[in-house]
Amino acid sequence: MNICVIGCGYVGLVTGAVFADLGNDVISVDIDKDRVDILNAGGCPIHEPRLPELLERNLREGRLTFTTSIPEAVSESEIIFICVGTPPAEDGGTDLSQVEAAATDIARSVNSYKIIVNKSTVPVGTGDFVREVIEKNGVATTDFDVVCNPEFLREGQAVRDTLHPDRIVIGSSSEKAANIVQFLYQALDAPCIITDTQSAELIKYASNAFLATKISFINAVANLCELTQADIREVAKGVGADSRIGHAFLGAGLGYGGSCFPKDVDALLYASRTIGAEMSILEAVRMENDSRVPRFVQRIIERLGAKDHVPLEGKTIGVLGLSFKPDTDDLREAKSIEICHALREAGSRLRAYDPIATANARRIIGDEGIEYCQSPYEAAKGANGIVIVTEWREFIQLNLNRMKSEMVEPIIFDGRNIYSSDQVKDAGFEYFSIGKTSTKH
Ligand code: NAD
Ligand code: UGA
Repeated sequence: MNICVIGCGYVGLVTGAVFADLGNDVISVDIDKDRVDILNAGGCPIHEPRLPELLERNLREGRLTFTTSIPEAVSESEIIFICVGTPPAEDGGTDLSQVEAAATDIARSVNSYKIIVNKSTVPVGTGDFVREVIEKNGVATTDFDVVCNPEFLREGQAVRDTLHPDRIVIGSSSEKAANIVQFLYQALDAPCIITDTQSAELIKYASNAFLATKISFINAVANLCELTQADIREVAKGVGADSRIGHAFLGAGLGYGGSCFPKDVDALLYASRTIGAEMSILEAVRMENDSRVPRFVQRIIERLGAKDHVPLEGKTIGVLGLSFKPDTDDLREAKSIEICHALREAGSRLRAYDPIATANARRIIGDEGIEYCQSPYEAAKGANGIVIVTEWREFIQLNLNRMKSEMVEPIIFDGRNIYSSDQVKDAGFEYFSIGKTSTKH
């Protein structure tokens, strides 16, 4: 099939590359010329495992092309995927200006029947909005259909998730359009849920909000553990063993970050309020998440700080991990931003290390009061404590003796529970983790 994908970000690039790899002809469009130039030169503008190989192969074999020209891409395609950003709007709702711009550009280039598929995460009613924009720009209702096909991939494993989805959701008022989109996915052998547009739109927000709720719930239980000698890892293991609950997303830590959970919880909360069916449960989810970093920093200050208005003055802290999760260089809503800011504000100097996100961190967190290091051991040099912010695999088997020899005080504040208390205690560290009382060596 001939496919156009509008937006070459995390979702658009992976979607285009996977559809091309399944044998379709894909034209991917982005308004960012620099991004399109990188892609046409065989590069990959984001860090996403397996994506560079997929892009390179399909570009070389001619199934995948990149352009800044929507007219060219739309006129040659039967199916057009909208994969642009849907950031928060100032009023707390969702900013649909990128979707509107894409729909307007599509409308101006329609030359035959088109299926316009919204893959961006959008509030209920956006399918109708896209339809109105296209009709307003002079396209006859018989010349197009609108479909909602939300995306559930995770960054860091986006290619895997796209090739092996738990389900594919297709929402449309047109049976014909829904069937054509379903045909596109048939090679993936995943269950397909065909439904109305509004339900498809809400499935996406409800899924993200439910996962965020699981995280905030287990984090609230972790707070209880810290006051009761219980261990959150044991509690989560026991709770997750119930097949009705499951182990996934019961990892207690610094809370959820990233470009989607925070924004999608807020968007659903806003929509529910506006519609008059307020989901106050999400207010609690959000409040718990917002309290994670202040609570963690408070523990650091209580252990290391003086009773002063700049409690960490003269202290050096090593920060391990800056991306919002492992296997990505994405820092959008990363907990590292909040932690670095709070630790600097408390007077400490930071030595930070991330395997791949340092360039983005320099841009977003800045250089003031932070030295970016080449290894975890360099970050530990002269440190009064180490803070684990992102659970990168390479931190799990660090040489703890070597870390200790670099540090002034052997203390680990583990925001992602990557170590066992015995392991760090044996190496001579004092250990603070989430959801467990601290352990001294
Ligand atoms: P992104 O910011 O990485 O990419 C969006 C791209 O769209 C950018 O490259 C931008 O230049 C381009 N763009 C914007 N307006 C355009 C236009 N009019 N024409 C052509 N290109 C345009 O965003 P993303 O992370 O890929 O997310 C896209 C959507 O998918 C969002 O709604 C998001 O909520 C949703 N989503 C994201 C993920 C994820 O893991 N990142 C997962 C599932 C769903
Ligand atoms: C999430 C969803 O998992 C995807 O299904 C969805 O498509 C995507 O959002 C989206 O809509 O953009 P992603 O943000 O890439 O994917 O990453 P996750 O692995 O879900 O992690 C999100 C945040 O939750 C991270 O900050 C992570 O550290 C945190 N998390 C995750 C926990 O704190 N505990 C856990 O047990 C799991």
